[in-house]
Amino acid sequence: TGLIALDPGYANTGSCRSAITSIDGERGILRYRGIPIEQFEHSPNFVEVAWLLIFGHLPNAREYADFSAELTACANLDEGMKHHFEGFPRAAPPMAILSAMINALSCFHPELFELEDEQRFRAAAAGLISRIRTIAAYAYRHSIGRPYIYPHPEQRYVPNFLHMMFSDPYAEYVCEPLVRDAINLVLLLHADHEQNCSTSTVRMVGSSQANLFAACAAGVCALWGPLHGGANVAVLRMLEEIHQGRITPEQYVRLAKDRDSKVRLMGFGHRVYKQFDPRAQILARVAERLLAQLGRRDPLLDIARRLEEIAREDPYFVERQLYPNVDFYSGIILRAVGIPTNMFTVMFAMGRLPGWIAHWWEQAGAGGRIARPRQLYVGPESLDYVPMDERG
Ligand code: CMC
Repeated sequence: TGLIALDPGYANTGSCRSAITSIDGERGILRYRGIPIEQFEHSPNFVEVAWLLIFGHLPNAREYADFSAELTACANLDEGMKHHFEGFPRAAPPMAILSAMINALSCFHPELFELEDEQRFRAAAAGLISRIRTIAAYAYRHSIGRPYIYPHPEQRYVPNFLHMMFSDPYAEYVCEPLVRDAINLVLLLHADHEQNCSTSTVRMVGSSQANLFAACAAGVCALWGPLHGGANVAVLRMLEEIHQGRITPEQYVRLAKDRDSKVRLMGFGHRVYKQFDPRAQILARVAERLLAQLGRRDPLLDIARRLEEIAREDPYFVERQLYPNVDFYSGIILRAVGIPTNMFTVMFAMGRLPGWIAHWWEQAGAGGRIARPRQLYVGPESLDYVPMDERG
């Protein structure tokens, strides 16, 4: 079998060629199809970015209008899917529901399996991007025991999502432009990040030629963990714990440095960024701006700032090049808008979906080999089977 190179965590293994997103970790630069993400800060439009990532260029006015119309047209879930929500306990983790329901789309839209041409793929991509938000909102409504709110036939992507989350039959939620822009920005800053754990999962599942829904459902599961997308929930819990006075920021940082504690400073550190994570810098600015515009203060933002300050001066974090990542400040924004903590990772998944779709499609087009890593076997060389009654 020849010599196998061992690379735990794939820190030095390139798994594919990709033209979607580039990261310069040394200089803290992230580009979508060549465009630095800072350039999206003042005209945040998640749908436009989704198109860019998937189809490779910014949409022109007609492409954008058509795609937006397509998203609006397919926002409804098949009524049959609603029965599935009923079966989940109220306290079910929304990420479990999200993954199950995305997979269930395979059952309700088999026509989107045969993706032999770009038009069919576009319909599948639009259907998925549109419906993930309906699924996310329904998962939330189910968890609070409120009726599902159908997608609005006219509203745009983000206002429509917030409508499904927060409207009631007798009281329609009105989305302020600053809230719409903040959520658009949160979503688009999560939209792709090259070969991260969930995207690599999507590509791996897709490499067996499994369908788009199955691959993205697997992506949701990979994202769920606290070292990946689940970190945004862990950050909020950490900030709350400090806010409730159970531990001080200084004590928390001390604990995070202690290997035996198994505690990490959540929202800190990144495999690729070694100076700063540009997404975190933008999100910190947006969090400040949004709270100021809403005329509110959030003590958790002060705590986050304090933690960052302590860590920046601590040799442990400096030497290991650990800086705030995308999950450190995003929760402050989501919270300000009324998104409950247990939905944070679902929001990450909604944001990351265009990236997953773009990678699935890129890989399908490249027609590569099935992903199949090797291993270094370290178990016993050879043993004999022992019948049950002869075992000790
Ligand atoms: N707090 C304390 N120590 C840390 C942290 C942290 N947040 N992150 C890394 N370290 C230490 C780690 O203990 C190790 O120390 P040593 O060299 O003494 O053994 C060193 O820094 C390198 O860490 P690593 O675990 O080998 O780094 P990695 O590239 O494998 O992991 C990471 C990257 C993001 C999983 C990790 O930094 C981490 O666990 N961070 C906290 C969780 C988090 O915020 N995840 C979100 C990642 S960004 C967006 C996303 O993907 O969702």
